[in-house]
Amino acid sequence: MEEEGQVIQNSQDREAELRHDLSPTIVIFGASGDLTARKLVPALFNLSRKKRLGEGTRIVGFARRPMSDDAFRDHLREGVSRFSKDTFDKETWESFAPAIRYFQGNMEETGDYRKLSTFLDECEDGPRDRLYYLATSPVYYTTAAEHIGAAGMADESHGKRNLVVEKPFGNDLESARALNRSLHGVFKESQIYRIDHYLGKDTAQNILFFRFANTIFEPVWNRRYVDNVQITVAETVDVGHRAGYYDSAGVVRDMFQNHIFQLLSLVAMEPSATFKADSLRNEKVKVLSAVRPINMQETVRAQYEGYRDTPGVSAASETPTYAALKLFVDNWRWKGVPFYLRSGKSLTMKTSEILIEFHCPPHIMFESEKPCSMTSNILALCIQPDEGIHLKFETKVPGSVQETRSANMEFHYRSSFRGEKLPEAYERLLQDALTGDASLFTRSDEIELAWGLMDPVLQGWESSDAPALGTYQPGTWGPSDADRLLGQDERVWRVGYCEHEEHRD
Ligand code: BG6
Repeated sequence: MEEEGQVIQNSQDREAELRHDLSPTIVIFGASGDLTARKLVPALFNLSRKKRLGEGTRIVGFARRPMSDDAFRDHLREGVSRFSKDTFDKETWESFAPAIRYFQGNMEETGDYRKLSTFLDECEDGPRDRLYYLATSPVYYTTAAEHIGAAGMADESHGKRNLVVEKPFGNDLESARALNRSLHGVFKESQIYRIDHYLGKDTAQNILFFRFANTIFEPVWNRRYVDNVQITVAETVDVGHRAGYYDSAGVVRDMFQNHIFQLLSLVAMEPSATFKADSLRNEKVKVLSAVRPINMQETVRAQYEGYRDTPGVSAASETPTYAALKLFVDNWRWKGVPFYLRSGKSLTMKTSEILIEFHCPPHIMFESEKPCSMTSNILALCIQPDEGIHLKFETKVPGSVQETRSANMEFHYRSSFRGEKLPEAYERLLQDALTGDASLFTRSDEIELAWGLMDPVLQGWESSDAPALGTYQPGTWGPSDADRLLGQDERVWRVGYCEHEEHRD
């Protein structure tokens, strides 16, 4: 059994705790990197602006580059004003900035962690909780955790000591297991917070609210009513300046093993008895444990044309930038329902969406000329960018006798929560890590199960009898093989269901 972390059950509890004395120290390892200036400090700045960060919270950056506190603050100020444009203001920054300190050190030097430990004790003047954030290159995760342990910094006698680990968490099942083992050598599972920023998105969290805070959807959420489920995470961007990382990772490690499998788990899981971290994660683990090994004949991989010309990409690169696959969740609820998953870079539009396509009615009494595939009900959970939920259903064309046309019921966050901006994923994730709520973080067994499902696919593609890597034109929906994957089941990828009504023709 995993240890149950301290769970703050609702936002009132969380706020109450923050009002008390939550003045932790956040130590960011690899603080001079992109993530700190782009995501972490803008999120902390916004939490502080919203009074959700305990007064007296300290932020200490640890990195190799020599830098004064002021130079570090200036660097972060630029990041916040650039990446948090809407909320940046000089006065708030000036009251936030003094909490930021910089400590120069080498990730591989034991002595530097001891010096850091002394520096932290001096800054803290008494017992404080600490959150260690590994924002470094993944090659340092093990080293950093071991050095933190060796310097006595994981010891909890003077406050909680939690560790946040960024993705990628391993490169395959074996490396993920090895990393879990190293981390568990220093930290208990309840101290470890593995980031998947998709779980920080309100629209991803809303999947459980939509399913389980309503009466009318859950009764049809199963094989008796659902024909198939399609999960698409499409991006228009190419690999850009991340070629070094991406060319060794590829789309499956970058998007499927983590983000897409998390969306799959949220859509397919059983209701948990409580909204506590381990209850929720137990249910997600059950979904991944029930996924049937993926059939290689039902996978597609391709690379966009021009990818090999990107600086940093090998001229003979076989890295897929697009993948699509079909899988089954072999349990009572989902037996026989195909889940089609796809993701790629340089596609025609940016959208993350989950479409639930329902069976056709058993008998149509109207003399409709339309095939059932055109009239099936489709529920679209629109994760981004036009966040909302849409339901397509058939309606009688006014004035006709028995002609039908599809209509849409649409919920848009933008109009229903006017004036309330959806928070950045990192705000929520950092706040939860600070208050000890691990619900939106991936547990060790979840990560390993996800790798266990993807490893055979990655190995299958590398085998000598695998079909050649396909290609696709940038700006399209990907390779035609992905259409064939559904075509052989007499289905099509459903597109456009998350577009705003105004943009549809
Ligand atoms: C990251 C991947 O985890 O998620 C990127 O490494 C990808 O390649 C990004 O672009 C997508 O995130 P979002 O929130 O824009 O869908």
